[in-house]
Formats: sequence, C-alpha cells, structure tokens
Amino acid sequence: MPFPTERPRRLRENARLRDLVGETVLTRNDLIYPLFVSEAIQGSEEIASMPGQYRHSIDSLLKQCELIMKAGIKAIILFGIPREKDALGRGAYAENGIIQKAVRSIKQEKFPLVIITDVCLCEYTSHGHCGVVKGERIDNDATLELLAAAALSQAQAGADIVAPSDMMDGRVQAIRRALDDARLESVPIMAYSAKYASAFYGPFREAAGSAPQFGDRRSHQMNPANRREALREVTQDLCEGADIVMVKPALAYLDVIREVRDMVNVPVAAYNVSGEYAMVEFAASHGVIDRQRMIMEILTAIKRAGADLILSYHALEAADWI
Ligand code: PBG
Repeated sequence: MPFPTERPRRLRENARLRDLVGETVLTRNDLIYPLFVSEAIQGSEEIASMPGQYRHSIDSLLKQCELIMKAGIKAIILFGIPREKDALGRGAYAENGIIQKAVRSIKQEKFPLVIITDVCLCEYTSHGHCGVVKGERIDNDATLELLAAAALSQAQAGADIVAPSDMMDGRVQAIRRALDDARLESVPIMAYSAKYASAFYGPFREAAGSAPQFGDRRSHQMNPANRREALREVTQDLCEGADIVMVKPALAYLDVIREVRDMVNVPVAAYNVSGEYAMVEFAASHGVIDRQRMIMEILTAIKRAGADLILSYHALEAADWI
C-alpha cells in the first residue's frame, strides 16, 4: 500500500502501542549465565579483560548462585580452572576436579538452577589446546575418549546438561554413548555446533588461562567466512544425538543463527561471548554509549535472529532490567 494510506509511524506513536506490536520479547527464561570457578583462589578475583566478571572459589560461586536465582535466571554454565594443568587435561575428568566439586556443592545447596557444564580440555591442558597434541597436530580420535570421560564425570557429579565446546569430529556421539552406557541417558547434550575460530574469545582465554601455547584453534573451530559449513556441523551433531545446538559467537553471526533456526526443530542457543561483552564494557567505561540500552538491544537482536537461549555475561543485569 502506498503512502499516504500506509504510514508505518502510526504504530510507533507511543510506548503502549509500540509494546503492543513488539515482535520479540526477551524473558528471563531465555538467559544462561556463564561462571568461572577456580581451584586456585580464595573468594573471588575480577577478570581484567572482563570488568564486572569474576573467577570464583566454590564458596563465592555459591553466593553468586543465590543472586542468580533471586534475579530469576534459570540456568548457568560453568567453566573450571584447575590448580594444575597437564598435557592430557586430567583435571577435566578427575572425580574431584574443580568442576565436579562445584557441581556437587551447588546441588547440595538445592539451588533450583539448571547446571550446564562446558566440556573441553583447553582450560585443563598445559599447552592450552582442546585435545591430545601429537607433534603439532591435535589428534581427533584420541581426544574423543577424554571428552567423553569429562562429560561423564560432570554428569555423575550432577550436571543437568553437558555442553561440548571442543569442535572435535564425533564428540557428540562419543559423549552420548558414554552417558547412555552409564545409565545417564536422560542427561541432554547442548552442542557448540557452529563454533567459529574467533578473535572474540580473547578475554575468555585470559579469564581461564587457556590461550594456546603454540598455533591456534583453526584446525578444529570453523572459518568465519563459512555459512553452509555451519549447517553441516549442526546436521551432524543432531545425527549424533545433540538435544540443543549452539552458534558461537553471536553478534557477527546473526545470519548463521537465523539459518540454523530455520533448519532445525531443536532449541537453538547463541553465545554472546567474552569479546562482545568486553566491547560493550570498555565503550561504556569511556562514556561513548548508553550501556543498558545497548545490552538490551544486543540481547533482543540475538533473540530476533532466532536464538531460543542466550548465553551472556550480561544475563544477570539484564534479568533485573526485564
Ligand atoms: C572452551 C571455550 C571457549 C569459550 C567457551 N568454551 C574458548 C575457546 O574456544 O577458546 C569462549 C567463550 C567466550 O569467549 O566467552 N573451548
């Protein structure tokens, strides 16, 4: 319909009308809050590259869970930082590893939170790679066993969902089999399916001390230039038994989120990663943006693109603003 019959501004006249015709509404149920738990610290320690985010001891983590629950958030994702790292990332699948202890402690307190655990080796290996290193290469199939052991020990400790972020081929299948063999067939897998080799993970690697000591992650994480390949990764993870698929990072990959959403029938998660958080925080600390508006705009845009679940370091504050 041509102007002047058609006037899109009619429905923007005031806030009530705008709310009435709003297409996307962010809710607390959409948010997952990431937390770092460290074996090496007392209390908590602010992460320099992510102002406002902390590495927590288990005690401090429990206090944080209390706040998260009170804010109305339903789910957290945990990353462990062990005291000692070794070539095979043993801390990732140790019965009394930091993540296993943290999960048991949260469960003991009976917090009504869905506990998701990140499954990867890079936080636990001395070389910072996500798998078993042979020469200069990461051995895919040798890594699968260790990832399955890590996921299994997390689920045995009480994790409600396990989330492999390593990008080895076949890891969803290996984890599904290990869980099923241990009668943990009802523990879901949230797969980081389309995970790109991204510069946006920089602050996380400082937080977890997980930067690779040599080389990079391009032999397993995806090339940012690729779109069709993301759909292949997602399809493969679903065939192997993934219950939820993820696109990561979020902001530079909204097109990928949309395409994945249109292709699958499972819930789609998107990870609003550490570098995206840091960009907002450092811009805000220089007074060049309206911080709250920008955060809500980003989270709403990720949902509009098709994400059902959003992992975000801004989740706790956003839950308060919703
Ligand atoms: C572990 C892992 C990473 C992130 C989540 N899980 C780091 C990486 O792949 O290097 C990044 C999260 C973020 O940047 O917020 N493999």
